[in-house]
Amino acid sequence: MFFLYLTAFDRSKKYIFIDELEILTMKRILITGSNSGIGLEFTKKYLERGDYVIASCRKPESAYELRDIRENHAGRIIVPQLDVSDEDSRDKLFKNISSFLDKLDILINNAGVISGNLEYSPPLGELHDEDMTKVFLINSISPIYMAERFLPLLKRSKNPKIINISSISGSISKRTRGGGYSYSASKAALNMFTKNLSNDLREDRVIVVALHPGWVKTGFPYTENAPHMPEETVGGMMDVIDSLEMKDSGKFIDWLGTEQPW
Ligand SMILES: NC(=O)c1ccc[n+]([C@@H]2O[C@H](COP(=O)([O-])OP(=O)(O)OC[C@H]3O[C@@H](n4cnc5c(N)ncnc54)[C@H](OP(=O)(O)O)[C@@H]3O)[C@@H](O)[C@H]2O)c1
Repeated sequence: MFFLYLTAFDRSKKYIFIDELEILTMKRILITGSNSGIGLEFTKKYLERGDYVIASCRKPESAYELRDIRENHAGRIIVPQLDVSDEDSRDKLFKNISSFLDKLDILINNAGVISGNLEYSPPLGELHDEDMTKVFLINSISPIYMAERFLPLLKRSKNPKIINISSISGSISKRTRGGGYSYSASKAALNMFTKNLSNDLREDRVIVVALHPGWVKTGFPYTENAPHMPEETVGGMMDVIDSLEMKDSGKFIDWLGTEQPW
């Protein structure tokens, strides 16, 4: 039986043996905002499938569900601190994982907020700087910085993918109502970042898409009456992610694989 050396799993012993087949099929996946909702479900499902997950979150010390998951999948998950909007935090994580992982196969930019400091998206008449700037920083700007920072690791993958979790709220052509200014515009901006990035990375064969996860019941505001649970749509998104080819790069797709209008 063939064995290969892999340094990714055990920093204390430096090397562990993994059989060749496992190395060929296992993906190394970085997820942002993995302590709740859609990010948590991605983490669970990729681990169940046998992949290696960097389940990053803002406050690992209070990410209790991730702590339990980590105990059941020791060796295939780390739960590092990452505030996507903080450059030092992004740099620290990059240096950390570069010290024991040689490549990254999938980056899922999932972290997002509805508002700068409220549990709802402020309507016209209540718009304010903190809301506008923080929502854009986290939802639109941070994903592009994450992609830029982790690109050296992604480029070493055979089939690298950057998945930006967008929203149908960011579709300008589907917009039929007002309100939700910062949130909807931040996702529209994320869509444009996705398109630009896909064009820049086409020669490097990095696939970049904006993915609408469906309307899903999570802790996210305005999802109390959502028709789907994360288990359903995350499974759908994983199928979509698996099936992505270069020709799909730069598209805005939903969790069922249907292309969405910008
Ligand atoms: N649920 C839906 O119906 C729906 C529909 C369309 C799009 N989406 C998108 O799906 C993504 C996930 O949302 P969700 O529904 O799963 O809601 P959620 O459970 O509230 O998850 C949001 C995640 O983002 C994290 N986050 C916020 N700011 C962050 C920062 N600065 N750095 C790192 N992490 C940060 C949160 O961490 P903390 O817990 O530490 O705050 C949390 O883990 C978002 O991008 C959202 O816009 C959701």
